[in-house]
Parts: sequence; structure tokens; C-alpha cells
Amino acid sequence: MKISADSLNGATAYRLLTGVVVPRPIAWVATLSAAGLVNLAPFSCFTFVSADPPMVGFNAGLRGGIRKDTARNIQERGEYVVHVVDESLVDPMHMSAEDYPSDVSEAEALGLATEPSDMVAVPRLSGAPIALECVFDRAVSFGRSGSEFLVGEVKLFHVRDGLCTNGKIDTQLLRPVGRLAGPVYGTLGDIIAKRASASYANL
Ligand SMILES: Cc1cc2nc3c(=O)[nH]c(=O)nc-3n(C[C@H](O)[C@H](O)[C@H](O)COP(=O)(O)O)c2cc1C
Repeated sequence: MKISADSLNGATAYRLLTGVVVPRPIAWVATLSAAGLVNLAPFSCFTFVSADPPMVGFNAGLRGGIRKDTARNIQERGEYVVHVVDESLVDPMHMSAEDYPSDVSEAEALGLATEPSDMVAVPRLSGAPIALECVFDRAVSFGRSGSEFLVGEVKLFHVRDGLCTNGKIDTQLLRPVGRLAGPVYGTLGDIIAKRASASYANL
């Protein structure tokens, strides 16, 4: 089967791409609104873009032609926290994607405990296995949709005790969850370990 990109519109291309780029890690992003409320939302167009310094990025689409609360808060306040979602957090993460009014804190509405961060004003979720305190670097827009790829520098990694040995995260203990297409998630399946090559060890 061949599918010409010319035959696709934004919606059909999105449908296809979200089945092609799988599984996607989920950035569960906390921000602070202008009124000081903790906003929380998941973004699965997520990756890291630099190791030196550590930088992560995710793509935020527009809603009704305007920025989502997360993208607006990041660009207004310059700080945010990205959390990793493990199996225990799937339900609240999924629920936090509902379209809450801007004056409602998803963290509060979902009863999620937060605690102060060290280097940014945005609190972090106490229950997350990993939290990245980030400072906004830049937003880049691609294509015609107006969505923005938001990049930030990680200033501090919080990793739950026991998850990290010699600087390496134990993925089996982490039990991360990835997004497949739509409201469908995947957990770790079989892990396939191959011999490492020096040519890409740090890539
Ligand atoms: C697992 C998951 C992943 C999502 N990934 C994205 C994404 O990559 N980009 C995006 O714009 N919206 C994504 N969404 C939708 C947003 O989470 C949703 O629009 C949310 O209401 C935005 O909240 P905010 O207005 O508080 O920022 C995702 C939703 C779910 C459930």
C-alpha cells in the first residue's frame, strides 16, 4: 500500500502519523498559570533534543486556533516541570487531558499531591517517578497547523530513589507507559538487548 502525502489533510495525516510513530513517551507537563494555578496536561509528541546541555521538547497543538494552557503558561512564565508517566499514573494522566477551564487546576481537581521544585517556581508531582525541572528555551513552529515544538533546558532531574544506578535508569523498575494511537497506551513488552557499539554509544 502506498499513501501519497498529497492525498492527506491535517486530520488524516495526524491519524496516520500517530500510528506510525509508536510508542510515544509521554511528557506530563506541569505549568503555573498567571493566577498561580498548577496546570497539568500530557503531551506525547515528546523527545529529548540535546544532551549537552540536557534539553527536551514536545509539540503542542492549538485548540480552536489558540495556544493550549500549557504552551501559553510556558511562554509567559518560562518554567515548567516534565514528569514521566509510569503504570500507576495512567488514569490521572489520561484524565488530566480533559479540557479543563484555565481557572481550574488539574492537579487539584484530580487530587494529585504536589511539592515545591528546587530551581523553578512550578511545583512538581510528588507521585511521579521522574520529574525534570525545565527552563523554556524556544518554540519552533512547523507546517501549517500553527502547533509549536516547545524546547526547554533541564536544570534538575528528580529520580525516585532506587531507580538510578551509576547514572542509568532501570527501565524495568520504572515501568514507563507509552501512547499508541488515540486513548490507547502500551507498557514495556519483552526487552531485547543487543551488543552495544562504540560508534553510537552516546548518540
Ligand atoms: C496521552 C496524551 C497525549 C497527548 N499528546 C498531545 C500532544 O503531543 N500535543 C498536543 O497538543 N496535545 C496532546 N494531548 C492533548 C492535550 O493533553 C490536551 O489538549 C490538554 O487538554 C491540554 O491541556 P492544557 O490546555 O491545560 O495545556 C495529549 C493527550 C493525551 C491523553
